[in-house]
Amino acid sequence: MRNLLGTAVRLAERPCPAAPPDSTIVLAALPVPVIVLDATNRLRFINHAAEQFLGASAAAAAQLGLADFLAADNPLFLLLHQVRQHGTRVADHDMALEGPRLRRISVAVQGAPLPEEAGAVVLVLHDATAARALDRQLTVRGAARSVAGMAAILAHEVKNPLSGIRGAAQLLEASVAERDRELAVLIRDEADRIRDLVDRMEPFGERPVATGAVNIHRVLEHVRRLAQSGFAGPIRFTELYDPSLPPVHGNRDQLVQVVLNLVKNAAESIAQAGVQPGEIQLITGFQHGVRLAVTGSDARRHLPLVVAVRDNGPGIADDIRPHLFDPFVSTKPAGSGLGLALVAKIVSDHGGLVEVESRPGRTEFRLMLPMVDEESRE
Ligand SMILES: Nc1ncnc2c1ncn2[C@@H]1O[C@H](COP(=O)(O)OP(=O)(O)OP(=O)(O)O)[C@@H](O)[C@H]1O
Ligand SMILES: [Mg+2]
Repeated sequence: MRNLLGTAVRLAERPCPAAPPDSTIVLAALPVPVIVLDATNRLRFINHAAEQFLGASAAAAAQLGLADFLAADNPLFLLLHQVRQHGTRVADHDMALEGPRLRRISVAVQGAPLPEEAGAVVLVLHDATAARALDRQLTVRGAARSVAGMAAILAHEVKNPLSGIRGAAQLLEASVAERDRELAVLIRDEADRIRDLVDRMEPFGERPVATGAVNIHRVLEHVRRLAQSGFAGPIRFTELYDPSLPPVHGNRDQLVQVVLNLVKNAAESIAQAGVQPGEIQLITGFQHGVRLAVTGSDARRHLPLVVAVRDNGPGIADDIRPHLFDPFVSTKPAGSGLGLALVAKIVSDHGGLVEVESRPGRTEFRLMLPMVDEESRE
């Protein structure tokens, strides 16, 4: 009590800061549509952006319900039902809204319960973001496909002659005079470099892989051990695991490859900038309500498992951000730029999503993956 009073007195003595703006003013100014629905899906509040989105003024909308805007079978009603039933946030990365007063538009939707009022839900819609995110997924897939084609050609047309060149250089090495030996070694080393590159492209091939229940914590532990005994020796690893996490539906070796590529990037970024002490956090968690449309069907895939790799390096360079997942994009002198392209391909083959957040001192790659039960129910 004394503490509370003390605090109040000290606050009162300070020069009075500008009063914070009323929250409805802030909501009104938000450039994203925000809609509050009551338990019967009547529109309780819409901000300016939602007025434009719905093509109705707030006053007009107050007389209307969601059913006046959307067809009765629109998936948004199901999302609202889930928010109310579970009392948690539910998100959908790609939902088509269409109905009597709305032309068809794809949005990313987030719904959250309003605890103060039974059954009320606040909806936030993102229009362009979803489209852009989806575009990105598609371009990443496209890029991975073209790399897959190239990998097949390289394996076929380059690898075989390359081993001939390498063998010939080795023979020369043994027989030429001392002054020419250096050239023979150069040929052998360069042939090895090309072979390594071709080898790194091989996983892009479209081979079928076996999938099943994968314990993601074992995958993370395996990668941590590999990293600590090799390229990430001086870096401190912290594990923030949710031990109750169910298994991922996927392929163990491919998931090792994904985490390894992320941890390697994190370690390289820390080392390059000489950050002391370097730290990599491996994080797992369960997240309700993230769903992704399954390509070519109306089904929704739930992606409740979150696996994140976070580092305290300098962050991702601004100029490569838009192309981060494209193949051959690298800022490293010896980098091939295939690490993240492969991450994107494998995660997309798993039906999952990758998100990145990066600022100096904190870069986080977040994977959202399907869990095994969910998959078998589909
Ligand atoms: N954790 C990170 N912090 C800062 N930059 C990063 C991070 N992860 C990736 N990057 C940037 O993204 C680029 C592309 O990464 P990617 O793994 O695809 O290729 P690479 O690491 O350069 O080469 P490779 O993985 O083929 O050896 C990197 O060169 C780097 O600039
Ligand atoms: Mg890399």
